Amino acid sequence: MVDLSTAYLGLKLKSPLVVSSSPLTESPETIQRLEEAGAAAVVLPSIFEEQLTLESDALDRDLNRGTESFAESLSYFPEYEDYRQGQDAYLSQIQRAKSACSIPVLASLNGVTARGWVRFAKEIEQAGADALELNTYSLATNASETSAIIEKELVQLVRQVKAATEIPVAVKLSPQYTSIPNLAMELDHAGADALVLFNRFYQPDFDLENLDVSPKLTLSRPEELLLRLHWVAILYGDVHADLAVTGGVHSGQDVLKSVMAGAQVAMTASSLLSRGISHLAAIQADLVRWMEEHEYESIRQMRGSLSRRAVPDPSAFERGNYIKTLSSFTLRQASSQA
Ligand SMILES: Cc1cc2nc3c(=O)[nH]c(=O)nc-3n(C[C@H](O)[C@H](O)[C@H](O)COP(=O)(O)O)c2cc1C
Repeated sequence: MVDLSTAYLGLKLKSPLVVSSSPLTESPETIQRLEEAGAAAVVLPSIFEEQLTLESDALDRDLNRGTESFAESLSYFPEYEDYRQGQDAYLSQIQRAKSACSIPVLASLNGVTARGWVRFAKEIEQAGADALELNTYSLATNASETSAIIEKELVQLVRQVKAATEIPVAVKLSPQYTSIPNLAMELDHAGADALVLFNRFYQPDFDLENLDVSPKLTLSRPEELLLRLHWVAILYGDVHADLAVTGGVHSGQDVLKSVMAGAQVAMTASSLLSRGISHLAAIQADLVRWMEEHEYESIRQMRGSLSRRAVPDPSAFERGNYIKTLSSFTLRQASSQA
């Protein structure tokens, strides 16, 4: 019997299989089904900063309006309930998720400013979340904002959230930073308990008939895993934070590769959205079969075995591999792929 147990964010997990933030983790009933299919933890869908700040902006406006005339202000207070609705709904979603399952439940906050996050992080902790994932999806569209400023703000944000809450904090990153190792080190110093690599970049499509741009979300493909493996393998051993893979995990082999690169857990969403929740049990069965066939006793034993530190030729992760990769491609291969 192989030992699949792992630790992530200081939590003991029965396996490295985590269901990432997505509509799959929205309802307690589905979370129960995910647990039965083998999920070791789930990340809830994100609550977005806009939901938090819009609500508090509107509240501030009304309260300020109220102070202009005290008698009137009293009548504004009941509306506080409305503004709190989105936040309260999220807190109750955490509570319902927690009572529906016995696996850890991670909440997820998406935002870019401390304003939206810090206050609510505490409430998330009080609602019973086992950990908090900060989904840092944002796009730099302002030319005067340098990459150094963006990264500094992100690091500060993490520091502030860490100071505001006692539950572990994971940071879900986009791959689009100039120096991922440097940012990872800064986040590590700021106290991030885990780095989740990587958010996918959603690009809108052009609608030629209506001359418009429209949002487009396609599910991931297994090829997307390679980018994650690459960076986890490079960071493994250099940061204290746990590493998690999200993006392109579709099979037991993908989980094995993630762990061998150095990840504590491998998260999946697209594979289950496209093939159904029962696919999670197939991923686990695949994982166990492979480990038994190759005489591995535990997940722990294989962690980091294909990281940059462990492989005999680390140039596979570095520039040296660039030339090798290009020259390894033959015209015969090209015609077979056409
Ligand atoms: C429909 C859908 C909704 C998602 N919603 C969120 C979200 O609210 N917060 C978040 O951090 N990630 C969200 N994600 C991203 C996933 O958590 C995951 O990181 C990404 O899909 C890559 O993993 P995959 O290849 O297993 O799908 C969503 C993904 C999908 C497909």
